[in-house]
Amino acid sequence: MRLKNCHNFQDFRKLAKKRLPAPIFHYIDGAADDEVTYRRNTSAYDDVDLVPSVLAGVEEVDLSTTIFGKKIDMPLYCAPTALQRLFHHHGERGVAKAAGKYGTMFGVSSLGTVSLEEISALNDTPKMFQFYFHKDRGLNDAMLERAKAAKFDVMALTVDTITGGNRERDLRTGFTSPPKLTPSSLFSFATKPMWGINYMLREKMQLPMLQDHVSEGTSTNTSVGDYFSNMLDQSMNWNDAEKLCSQWGGHFALKGIMSVEDAKRAVDIGCTGIMVSNHGGRQLDGSRSNFDQLAEIVDAVGDKIDVICEGGIQRGTHVLKALSIGAKACSGGRLYLYALAAAGEAGVERALGQYRAELERDMKLMGCTSVDQLSRSNLRFR
Ligand code: LAC
Repeated sequence: MRLKNCHNFQDFRKLAKKRLPAPIFHYIDGAADDEVTYRRNTSAYDDVDLVPSVLAGVEEVDLSTTIFGKKIDMPLYCAPTALQRLFHHHGERGVAKAAGKYGTMFGVSSLGTVSLEEISALNDTPKMFQFYFHKDRGLNDAMLERAKAAKFDVMALTVDTITGGNRERDLRTGFTSPPKLTPSSLFSFATKPMWGINYMLREKMQLPMLQDHVSEGTSTNTSVGDYFSNMLDQSMNWNDAEKLCSQWGGHFALKGIMSVEDAKRAVDIGCTGIMVSNHGGRQLDGSRSNFDQLAEIVDAVGDKIDVICEGGIQRGTHVLKALSIGAKACSGGRLYLYALAAAGEAGVERALGQYRAELERDMKLMGCTSVDQLSRSNLRFR
């Protein structure tokens, strides 16, 4: 299997599996407990059908949408994800360039592997910084100031990682950052020598936002579950979020909102957006899917802040369904991470290009020329 044979999400997933040592592939691919929520995040879109219109004159389709005060050229962007250097040596640089090419937003994680300053200098594409609220307040303040100085457009505070999710695939493979060779993982690393060569000989894996403050993740091998449980502040509450929002002073979102009550509180503390998300099913298994939960949240706050549907997206039609419910845009991690692992920047570029082409084709087939023409009247629930 080669990049030119990758035509959809599942193709990129297969190629990523071929390229990555098993512990790293399963870190991306896996989720919490029985992975019920993870599967539901995608299958939920199948319980709603699109009802197209015809004869609408659809030569020109405008896929742009405005989120956080910024116009983006398509209603799908790259959600912030951790540890990208492990998946491919292009890491965040490749994702940033590919997102720039398609004029869409991308996020950089607190656990990102390229500095915010460097990423910011790469292009003018709208950028989101994802913030983990650590016990170490000095680290929190330093990260916030760095993101501000690097002119990130949006700050997204992740609120669904108050403790580590139970990712049993990671327990089985022994996945940590940085990766460590264990008797059981040795074989899987040995069978992917190209990954090993690139990992050893190319740029060293770093966590520039964290490593001056903590050693976990860079010089101390840590699982992501342990990182959440031990390094993040479990006392984080609405006051902290409100303070952070005003300290930031710009567009601010809570990432991982699932209830109407919390969505309303996000508006009250000054957020300009929320990501309706269950962290790709990686935290609370048995949580409702983001798409299933979208309508009630849009009904409560959709006229006040930007509601983003994050998770489970594998097709352009999934995006159109979420926009029809009232999301302003969609985002996802795996949808570009498999592509990054498969072929670096070229992979992400191909994946985003395919999503763009699917969105344009699907809009035409729906009889729509701009995303605001989508509404619940073009959906039927089974
Ligand atoms: C994860 C974090 C780091 O889900 O976002 O692994």
